[in-house]
Amino acid sequence: MKRDVFKTEISEMMSEHLDVSADDIYNLLEQPRDRELGDIALPCFTFAKKMKKAPQQIAMDFAESLTDAEWNLIDETKAVGPFLNFHYKLSELARYVISQVVGKQSEYGGSDEGGGHNVVIDFSSPNIAKPFGVGHLRSTVIGNALYHVFEKLGYNSVGINHLGDWGTQFGKMIVAFKRWGSDEMLRSDPVRSLFDLYTKFHREAKEHPELDDEARAEFKRLEEGEEEATRLWERFKEYSLEEFNRIYDILGIKFDYYTGESFYNDKIDSTIKLLEEMNLTEVSQEALIVDLEKYDLGACLLKKGDNATLYATRDLAGILYRHNEFNFAKCLYVVGASQALHFK
Ligand code: ARG
Repeated sequence: MKRDVFKTEISEMMSEHLDVSADDIYNLLEQPRDRELGDIALPCFTFAKKMKKAPQQIAMDFAESLTDAEWNLIDETKAVGPFLNFHYKLSELARYVISQVVGKQSEYGGSDEGGGHNVVIDFSSPNIAKPFGVGHLRSTVIGNALYHVFEKLGYNSVGINHLGDWGTQFGKMIVAFKRWGSDEMLRSDPVRSLFDLYTKFHREAKEHPELDDEARAEFKRLEEGEEEATRLWERFKEYSLEEFNRIYDILGIKFDYYTGESFYNDKIDSTIKLLEEMNLTEVSQEALIVDLEKYDLGACLLKKGDNATLYATRDLAGILYRHNEFNFAKCLYVVGASQALHFK
């Protein structure tokens, strides 16, 4: 490891005054909790016995006596309780940082602490047939920044776009498209027209609740892989992805996987089986749930009465899959605060 020039100057100077090796002092130096109090701190506890003085006193005496010392890089020494705190000369700090940045270029700030381990980052993750919202944009740029930070720290980042491409809403979309949609409108402004169809469905379903039954039936067909329903769903997905990719291209952002919610369809049964084997599930009002009342989190719904799975079920299958597939050091989800309960 390359030595920090500031810590080196401090440890050499203090070694002269303390009769302790510079190496030992170097290793004692720590970052103050509050950077206002100093750039680096030397805890004085270990010297108390030898010097027969309280650590507070040692810190105070040094702060006083070192003001006249010949520092090159240090501006000030101050006692903060039992710590002797050092403030770096700002001009020297600036010179040091800039020379590092210029010298190391894009390697600046990098390390190998990640040891090649995987960090899975679930980010962006917009919903098919819905507009790409500002919340998705936020997740996209933060997730992408994290992706690169972890790469620089020696991890292998795995970027996953967990597309919202499954759920009962696709039954509604299919009903709406069959009733009021057309190829022309899908071609002209796909995401907008799909979204309009979706809102129209909700308006109409208020007065014609039978539409909801129809939507459930369509979703069932989709779940069973029926041809027409699947074809429509694939088109919704394709058109939406085209629009999302336009945004990712502008930002220069790429994902390693576009494994959305539908990817977990064939992994749901084994996930539920596992939860059942662990005695975590129960049936409540015909639905399969995990009771989290004792954590003050209510009930987590896994399967509705009609057997349809939910967002949470697919995320549970997702985390198990990611765990097995990537053996990750971390799995991060970059999402809005409104999902706090879900992730708890
Ligand atoms: N599609 C969700 C939304 O737009 C975000 C998904 C976040 N990721 C996840 N694994 N649940 O709100």
